[in-house]
Amino acid sequence: MESKAVVMRWIPGKKGEVYYPIEFATLRVPKPEGSDVLVRLSAAALNHRDFFLRQDLYPMPQFGMALGSDGVGMVVDIGPNASGLWMNRRVIVNPGQGWVSDPEAPESAKGYLTLGASPAGTGTMQQYMLVDQADVVSCPEHLTDAEAAAMPAAGLTAWRALMVRSKNAFPGRNILITGIGGGVALFVLKFALAAGCNVYVTSSSVEKLRRAKELGAAGGVLYTEPDWESKLASLLPQDRKQFDAIIDGAGGNIVKSAARLLRNNGTIVAYGMTVSPTMPFTMKALIENIQLVGTTMGSRKDFFDMVELVRTQRIRPIVSHVVYGMNNLDEIEWLFRLLQEGSQFGKLVLQIRESSKTSNL
Ligand SMILES: NC(=O)c1ccc[n+]([C@@H]2O[C@H](COP(=O)([O-])OP(=O)(O)OC[C@H]3O[C@@H](n4cnc5c(N)ncnc54)[C@H](OP(=O)(O)O)[C@@H]3O)[C@@H](O)[C@H]2O)c1
Repeated sequence: MESKAVVMRWIPGKKGEVYYPIEFATLRVPKPEGSDVLVRLSAAALNHRDFFLRQDLYPMPQFGMALGSDGVGMVVDIGPNASGLWMNRRVIVNPGQGWVSDPEAPESAKGYLTLGASPAGTGTMQQYMLVDQADVVSCPEHLTDAEAAAMPAAGLTAWRALMVRSKNAFPGRNILITGIGGGVALFVLKFALAAGCNVYVTSSSVEKLRRAKELGAAGGVLYTEPDWESKLASLLPQDRKQFDAIIDGAGGNIVKSAARLLRNNGTIVAYGMTVSPTMPFTMKALIENIQLVGTTMGSRKDFFDMVELVRTQRIRPIVSHVVYGMNNLDEIEWLFRLLQEGSQFGKLVLQIRESSKTSNL
């Protein structure tokens, strides 16, 4: 069987300066063996990781292999040891490998491998993919394919950052989410609201702040303005004038800002460093016993728990833009440009084939 895929082509260039071109390739998909299931993908989504890969800023980029960590589709064939119950079922694919359930870190000696142009060996920006039955989950009925595709990597990262690492996903806690236009940030917003937290946000855009408030954020400020920390602090409720946790994907000077905003012993959960690959830890943060906690995506168990919360709370991921079909590279390039500019609000989705659920966008 053949599968049309979006892949990167190698060209010479330095890390951070090169921008690997993307192209379509026809890949061979073997027949499912053992407990594999064959998924006919209907939608995939982009992550900032895909943009970093093209700039050679992500470890071990693989060329000629499908990009994409996020995918939803229909199971159309199964291996001899896979359960027949998966046949014709709409499933979402676990975006990583090598981490089953350990709450601390991946069990695999090889570490955690994210799908998509990586040593994981497969990705979701293609028509068909093989995956072990243990790494798929039934798609919640209330989601369109675009919404479901929006969920895996960003939802999993948000879930672990807030629910596992922050230790502050409780009613009444003040949570700050930086850069609310980002894919992960919007999932943190949805999950924190579901947990009953008071959620505040930052953004570079007034319109994005407005939309975040519409979704339930208690307030927000522009991080592009000087002294945004004081403006933010003035919005907090009288009976709880400090933040309990900050969930941040930008890095930069967040520790300095946090030392002004967090309660003593408060937590910064860092899930990304969009601004630069290093960030300073300050003396004031040390004196205030601030904890800086790193986090990666999450285990298969975290992934299933996250999807279950989405199912039971009928949470709808925010989809910013969808492009249709696997025949127009310009449209896919346009999604990458939106990622680069940061002009999206939510996830960028590639609809691979006609949806089994109608998009409501
Ligand atoms: N650790 C992991 O496992 C993991 C998993 C997924 C992602 N990540 C990382 O997390 C980061 C975000 O990923 P994503 O896919 O959500 O990216 P994204 O959708 O491209 O979002 C990036 C957002 O970052 C915000 N931003 C940019 N500069 C900022 C600044 N100086 N201060 C605050 N916010 C700023 C912008 O928010 P506004 O538009 O609101 O200004 C922008 O929309 C990336 O670095 C990515 O590599 C890590």
